[in-house]
Amino acid sequence: KISLRDIDVRGKRVLVREDLNVPLKKGVITDDTRIRMTLPTLQYLIERGARVIVASHLGRPKGQPVDEFRLTPVAQRLAELLGKPVTKVDDSIGPQVEAAVASMQEGDLLLLENVRFYKEEEKNDKAYAKALAGLADIYVNDAFGTAHRAHASTAGVAEHLPAVAGFLMEKELAMLGKAVTQPERPFVAVIGGAKVSDKIGVIENLLAKVDSLIIGGGMANTFLRALGYETGTSLVETDKVDLAGELILRAKAQKVNLLLPTDVVVTQAFEASAPQRTVPVNAIEPGWMALDIGPETARLYANVVKEAATVLWNGPMGVFEFDEFAKGTEAVARAMAECRGITVIGGGDSVAAVNKVGVAERMSHISTGGGASLEFLEGKTLPGVAVLRDK
Ligand code: 3PG
Repeated sequence: KISLRDIDVRGKRVLVREDLNVPLKKGVITDDTRIRMTLPTLQYLIERGARVIVASHLGRPKGQPVDEFRLTPVAQRLAELLGKPVTKVDDSIGPQVEAAVASMQEGDLLLLENVRFYKEEEKNDKAYAKALAGLADIYVNDAFGTAHRAHASTAGVAEHLPAVAGFLMEKELAMLGKAVTQPERPFVAVIGGAKVSDKIGVIENLLAKVDSLIIGGGMANTFLRALGYETGTSLVETDKVDLAGELILRAKAQKVNLLLPTDVVVTQAFEASAPQRTVPVNAIEPGWMALDIGPETARLYANVVKEAATVLWNGPMGVFEFDEFAKGTEAVARAMAECRGITVIGGGDSVAAVNKVGVAERMSHISTGGGASLEFLEGKTLPGVAVLRDK
């Protein structure tokens, strides 16, 4: 697979697909991590005199122009971070865009409008992909966060142009890939989040690779139920209890150290300030729900994490949006920071957790992918990556 480093980009029109799908509140960007992570690729192209045409989606506008999903605030932030003007057009294809591209100088950067303003984008429509490709000489896919989507700007466009991975895409694939294929051992995975149904594929794939698998968050309740514990009003996916039981047996058969909570923080209402107490997992009473792992469990999990040579973490240990139920998640974040091994955050809510604790700088890698990281960790081939390999 050739890299962006191997090709001559000077003077060339380079279409770069980035994932600039950042969270916005009333038009203000609340987390610009995804924008900052695009800088190595964009700066490299600018410095080498490419004409850089950036494409991205933002949100889910359902195939039509919606003002709240315009990329205008992203263009502003990108210009600030690059320290140079960013021209933003109000469309992603068509005469206005073609004219803007024609007037670009070497080292200029042009940001196209949200590609999802066309329903053709998500349909991977051939004509739309061709029109996008027609703007450029080279295609760079740097949008790891959208690589699980086979859309026109992430997949279809690669049929018409020389296609290579950008530096962020390369880094994501290298870091996540090394963790799951050639981990330094002991290799520990920490999997949390509300539902086991969201993580079944990840757990099944990782069970064949890890030395220890730590389970926390709402999904731990389904495992506790499989072991026969009373779980009160805790979130339990009743149709997944048998599966959780099977996974427990599979872990045993594969000699994976499967860790489940031994104590939990319980409350009677799903509220930030609801009165709470800590109980062993065999003492959850009817009417009480577990919203976090308990301190004994947090210590146990932290010790396993600290001793790991590779740790991969996806999903919080409790309802960490509520400070009172964030302690388990924070303990794991701190243990990740203390671990001397390779620490990889597999996207999603765990990213917010390491940011909240202020230890993001100490992680080896924080993935920009949510759904894309999960599919990668499930062992699936991502369409946005497959199109680069085929070349
Ligand atoms: C994400 O935030 O996970 C990506 O940008 C993909 O967005 P999507 O789930 O709307 O396709």
